[in-house]
Amino acid sequence: MSMSIEDAAKSRPGFPRPFPNTPNNVLEQLSLKEKVIVVTGAADGIGLAVAEAMAEAGGHVALWYNSNDAAVSRAEELAHAHGIKSSAFKVDVSNSEQIEKGLAAVVEKFGKIDVFVANAGLALCKPILEQTLDEYKKQMSVNVDGVVYCSKLVGAIFKQQGFGNLIITSSMSAHIVNVPVDQPVYNATKAFVTHFGKCLAREWRDFARVNIVSPGFFDTKMGAGPEGLQEAYRMSTLGRQGHVKEIKGLYLYLASDASTYMTGSDLLIDGGYVLP
Ligand SMILES: NC(=O)c1ccc[n+]([C@@H]2O[C@H](COP(=O)([O-])OP(=O)(O)OC[C@H]3O[C@@H](n4cnc5c(N)ncnc54)[C@H](OP(=O)(O)O)[C@@H]3O)[C@@H](O)[C@H]2O)c1
Repeated sequence: MSMSIEDAAKSRPGFPRPFPNTPNNVLEQLSLKEKVIVVTGAADGIGLAVAEAMAEAGGHVALWYNSNDAAVSRAEELAHAHGIKSSAFKVDVSNSEQIEKGLAAVVEKFGKIDVFVANAGLALCKPILEQTLDEYKKQMSVNVDGVVYCSKLVGAIFKQQGFGNLIITSSMSAHIVNVPVDQPVYNATKAFVTHFGKCLAREWRDFARVNIVSPGFFDTKMGAGPEGLQEAYRMSTLGRQGHVKEIKGLYLYLASDASTYMTGSDLLIDGGYVLP
């Protein structure tokens, strides 16, 4: 039921909340000095670019990986290049016990978690009539269960700390029926995490922010495959896939104090792919 103008005009205890105590200078806002950031799927692709961005901005970074142990040397390189702390942790995000242990290990080593980037994903792109139920379950276990488990477990830490920031890597495939390869389950997993993230933004409003990044095609292992590459060029308004260096600034913005008024947002970064 809507309120009368008189009822709506009454002041309520606790409002307005105070503005954040952050620097006025935007470059200072973007600094991640002394912040601790966890990135999943960080050995390569978008996740590695995000980990680099965080380290370049002065943050301490935990690189989570599943099978690609190049994360171990990447973490050493980041620490050396940027004078920050960085370590790699092997965590399968479809396994909640491994996530719990991974989070405990990060807190033990770094003392806290300021930002968690739930970026790991899997693309088993097939029409549903050609996909086995085992493939369906595998797809769900990483893209949906993985994000839910990570969010639930890191959310408990955020609540206990009284602060936190969750960034979920979704996809433009949460917005569109991506063509020409039929991939209904992948698309739907991304729609799930986008809406889940928005819901968490409200649920966690007293202690953490939650935002979603929805990339279009980026030139990674998971970017457009041979069947879809030419269509990816044609559909993208900019006529190409994105380079991972072009997504670093968006994650940095969301992780930093430059975005303190932003929660529950879903940011498309797709070279104009979904415009037509
Ligand atoms: N590239 C694109 O065009 C595009 C577009 C939209 C959205 N995305 C999303 O962006 C994210 C990153 O993808 P990417 O393009 O950077 O591709 P990528 O290089 O293949 O990265 C996927 C990452 O997910 C990790 N991963 C897969 N299964 C995992 C599991 N069970 N536990 C933990 N980690 C697991 C992989 O880790 P290991 O290698 O260590 O196994 C890998 O680092 C994904 O969520 C993807 O859906 C990508």
